[in-house]
Amino acid sequence: MRKDDENSKDDENLDSKNSDDFVVTPWTVQGQVDYDKLVDEFGTSRITSDILERFRKITGEIHPFLRRKIFYSHRDLDDILKRYENGEKFFLYTGRGPSGGVHLGHLIPWIFTKYLQDKFGAELYFQMTDDEKYYTSDKLSLDKTYDLAMENTLDLIAIGFDPKKTFVFTDTGYMKTMYGIAAKVAKHTTFSTAKAVFGFENSTGIGMIFFPAIQAATCFLPSVLKGYNIPCLIPAAIDQDPYWRGIAREVAPKLGFYKPAQMHSKFMPGLGQGGKMSASQPETAIFTTDSEKTVQEKVMLSFTGGRATQIEQRKLGGQADICPVYNYYYFLFEPEDIELKRIYDDCTGGRLLCGDCKLMLASRTKKFVAEHAAKREAAKEHLDEFIVEDESGGLKKRSETRH
Ligand code: TRP
Repeated sequence: MRKDDENSKDDENLDSKNSDDFVVTPWTVQGQVDYDKLVDEFGTSRITSDILERFRKITGEIHPFLRRKIFYSHRDLDDILKRYENGEKFFLYTGRGPSGGVHLGHLIPWIFTKYLQDKFGAELYFQMTDDEKYYTSDKLSLDKTYDLAMENTLDLIAIGFDPKKTFVFTDTGYMKTMYGIAAKVAKHTTFSTAKAVFGFENSTGIGMIFFPAIQAATCFLPSVLKGYNIPCLIPAAIDQDPYWRGIAREVAPKLGFYKPAQMHSKFMPGLGQGGKMSASQPETAIFTTDSEKTVQEKVMLSFTGGRATQIEQRKLGGQADICPVYNYYYFLFEPEDIELKRIYDDCTGGRLLCGDCKLMLASRTKKFVAEHAAKREAAKEHLDEFIVEDESGGLKKRSETRH
């Protein structure tokens, strides 16, 4: 089993004939992901235009991540929306495996989660799996993954979540509260199920074998703490689906809870040729703590869909569809569809050359990272308003008990 951020080295050829050759598991994402195929393989549902219209009815708009199918697949989203329309509120659940710094790819689901929190007035429960990352790493100590969880929480706070509605915990810091629920999940999950869902082997450590019960337990945590059932919606990248499909949704009815609903996102590509943004290839990932100079360099050195020469580019046009630079506009740096189309048309029509396109992206990316970094710095004063732990008790924040 490999760590989540370890992209394989052999995902380099975008034009590979073997484009079906990809792997998506909670710990490995390799190759050119065929997102349509994943929907069929995992048995999820596509986010249809019907669902988008329901979003428009409720929120008055359709977020660019939805319009652009960055969040493109779901389970039971229609059910969650129906309940919401009937006055039943849901809570949001997402998380992070704190194995290193946060990059732009990690922010995509968080930005969308914050948007959902604002629009639906939903509480967010955010799980930092310091235990998981300790289990899957040869190098990280448990103290280190805990410290990284606190560092990563600064990035989370920087996104703008409402402290009154947001509860962040680490597994090691909240296990007394979580354990009873995890035990119930574990009791109803056999090893053969876990093996089939996650590919565990005899050589897998027993910490990892139990871990899915912990990740699934959060789906039920608010219902247990509050004493009544609350529907759960999980916005997360699609690689996390096995936890919900294989464990949480299986045990929910046995334990008397709602099955958690999901919205699945695609991965933001890295700046190299093919593959998702990955911490194991830092030159192709933009971290929230990168300096202006580093951001500039990374963007300017990016792979593009450009042609070998300017003359050729003007004649044939660039290949925006396979270009990470274009994809950055698509994901994060050009929310206006009309402007995005202009970039696409100018590129593929041979009027926009890669150098200029990269310069424009570099300046937008630098601005984004600088603004995020300032908010991240300010967040250091507010950590205790977000973190819940066993010592503070239930849903009390650290700030309520530590004076
Ligand atoms: N396992 C996830 C990771 O490695 C962390 C996580 C825990 C998570 N709970 C989650 C991610 C819920 C998304 C949704 O990153």
